[in-house]
Amino acid sequence: MQRAPGALFVVLEGGDGAGKSTQAALLAGHLQEHGHEVVRTREPGGTPIGEKLRSLVLDHGHGEVDARTEALMFAAARAAHVEQLILPALAGGATVICDRYIDSSVAYQGVGRGLGAEEVLALNRWATGGLRPDLTILLDVDPQAGRDRRTQGEAAEDRLESEPDDFHARIRQAFLDRAGNDAGAYEVLDASLPVEELAAMIAAAVSAVAPLAGSSS
Ligand code: TYD
Repeated sequence: MQRAPGALFVVLEGGDGAGKSTQAALLAGHLQEHGHEVVRTREPGGTPIGEKLRSLVLDHGHGEVDARTEALMFAAARAAHVEQLILPALAGGATVICDRYIDSSVAYQGVGRGLGAEEVLALNRWATGGLRPDLTILLDVDPQAGRDRRTQGEAAEDRLESEPDDFHARIRQAFLDRAGNDAGAYEVLDASLPVEELAAMIAAAVSAVAPLAGSSS
């Protein structure tokens, strides 16, 4: 499937409690105001089968989930997501804003679960046919701050969120390492900044990659 001119694939990554969904919504609104067609989505999920896999892999109560099974379920959900939603949206010229993508698997399953960053990256490159984001915004969050932010909400912690702080500290470093390997494709931002300030920095990073119609920002 061919990408239409102007199509853009933006991913938000970061630890739990980084504020990715808030920022994804603000970015989507900003781009829509500038006339972009925006498709906002998340992983795991985004398709009917992906949402089923999401609940299988995240909910407590499906019994033991070993690390390889976990990695394969995230990769399977991602394969469906790319094939059924992301590629068609890019072919239609949309800007796709995706909450988490391959780097989450590299960080959580590759490093957090100890499966190996390179192995998990290779699995996911295969699952996605090699589709890479045009820009990844990494919201860097201190694990304790992330936990505080999560536990302010009503929702119970899922299987991954309820891992201890040292698991989340390794994940944080894994994200930073990914960004450090390919600095041109990442914008690393401090998730503790005020929401509006962060939103403006994200909007600026996106316009640096794809200047917005009718705007000098
Ligand atoms: P997320 O949807 O960001 O959590 P929330 O429901 O709080 O918005 O992600 C769900 C969890 O899944 C999160 O703890 C990270 C984990 N995850 C992985 O371990 N590997 C992956 O590939 C992805 C996409 C998510």
